[in-house]
Amino acid sequence: MNIKDQYKILEFGDLGDERGKLVVVEGAQDIPFEIKRVFYIYGSDSQVVRGQHANRNSEFVLINVSGSSKVRVDNGFEEEIIELNRPRMGLYLPTMVWKDMYDFSEDSVLLVLANTHYDGHEYIRDYDEFIKEVGGTRRR
Ligand code: TYD
Repeated sequence: MNIKDQYKILEFGDLGDERGKLVVVEGAQDIPFEIKRVFYIYGSDSQVVRGQHANRNSEFVLINVSGSSKVRVDNGFEEEIIELNRPRMGLYLPTMVWKDMYDFSEDSVLLVLANTHYDGHEYIRDYDEFIKEVGGTRRR
């Protein structure tokens, strides 16, 4: 499958006025799922690589509400690198893609919305296992 058909770049509206910006993300309206979980990542320095897993059940929307980071998305056949660098930009990721988050700016706050409650068992943390499950061709 073409990886560009799997992830989606979302652009959220700005409801701000002279008092400042306001961005709203409503589950199943502005993003493709109902939100069950919110977490955020900050204080990761530029050398750190996070993520390094795929999820059997979880879909995510990633938003750099402050600063910037990069996300490498890999479907087992091809990869794309997406830079998150605007608070109104979201990256939707479906299930069963491998993701690495890296190149965090010092002020990076990466907000993540998920369609699931946390369940460590649905994570695939071994790349070879991921490749096997998706029948992929890539090697690391
Ligand atoms: P981890 O998945 O390694 O974070 P990342 O993908 O951002 O690199 O998670 C770090 C720890 O936090 C790990 O012990 C699992 C735990 N955790 C939860 O308990 N709930 C959650 O929703 C998440 C994302 C992680």
